[in-house]
Amino acid sequence: MSENNINETSEIPDLVSHLSEVKNVRKIGSGSSRTVYLLGELGLCVKVGHGSLIGMPERRKRIVKSMWKDSLMYEMSEMWGFGVVPFTKFIDSRSSEYECIEFIIESLDLDVVVREAFLLQRYVEMGEKDVSLDLAHAQKAIFFNLITGRGDQIKVNSVINPKGKIFEIDNEISFHGLRGADGHWIMTHSDFKKRPIESNLVEWVLGLPEEIQFEPNGMDPIEIIAIQNQVRSNVLQLKAAIDQVKGKRGEMSFREFMTAIDVLTRDERNRARKKR
Ligand SMILES: Nc1ncnc2c1ncn2[C@@H]1O[C@H](COP(=O)(O)OP(=O)(O)O)[C@@H](O)[C@H]1O
Ligand SMILES: [Mg+2]
Repeated sequence: MSENNINETSEIPDLVSHLSEVKNVRKIGSGSSRTVYLLGELGLCVKVGHGSLIGMPERRKRIVKSMWKDSLMYEMSEMWGFGVVPFTKFIDSRSSEYECIEFIIESLDLDVVVREAFLLQRYVEMGEKDVSLDLAHAQKAIFFNLITGRGDQIKVNSVINPKGKIFEIDNEISFHGLRGADGHWIMTHSDFKKRPIESNLVEWVLGLPEEIQFEPNGMDPIEIIAIQNQVRSNVLQLKAAIDQVKGKRGEMSFREFMTAIDVLTRDERNRARKKR
């Protein structure tokens, strides 16, 4: 799996010097409460909340928290060696990096997320036929989504790099319980459905550590513990289910494998749902 451990989007060594070179800003996408801008030719994107949040401390807190989760998902993907989330960074409004961005987007009055060293293609816009998706990499993305309880798995929340690797963006709705794999749009992709499960992927997932360590930096420590517990429980559940279907994987397509996992974890998920 070492080949997939490389984060192909590569980290930006000195964000400040890059940002100071930005001359123009272009809007590239927009959701219900946030907008994503492309900064100059550098291919850096920032995602900011709509409108002013001055005098709206609760709303501001909510937005900051969700963007913080976005960059935590990047860190987790890197820490575990999945390489399925593009470089994404939460920028504190008191940092020198923030000052650089402030000059660029005048109305910016809140914390932002800087993501991605270069603009990636939007999968939806390329048309499925023109893209040769790296289906093995996509299997990794599914496992990552399961473990992290990633919620918003729609097509427009995946981008692809020039090598056809899927990267997951918009990870703000994450850290729920283990999900059914069917929630991800790629499960309906005709080639993906039929493809056999990668022979070493299962062993690799079984070897993942259950504990994840990360620096609580700006986020409520209680929240951090809740996330750690949730992820640990997801990893344990997934490993237990994999152990039961493992021997059969030779004859199974990825989809069949996931369905078997789904059946084994459904009771647990129903229990969690009722508790909420
Ligand atoms: N790194 C990126 N490369 C290409 N497009 C992007 C990137 N980041 C965001 N976008 C585009 O902007 C849109 C909105 O970004 P997203 O993070 O999904 O925000 P929202 O929460 O508003 O849905 C995405 O659907 C995508 O089309
Ligand atoms: Mg989105």
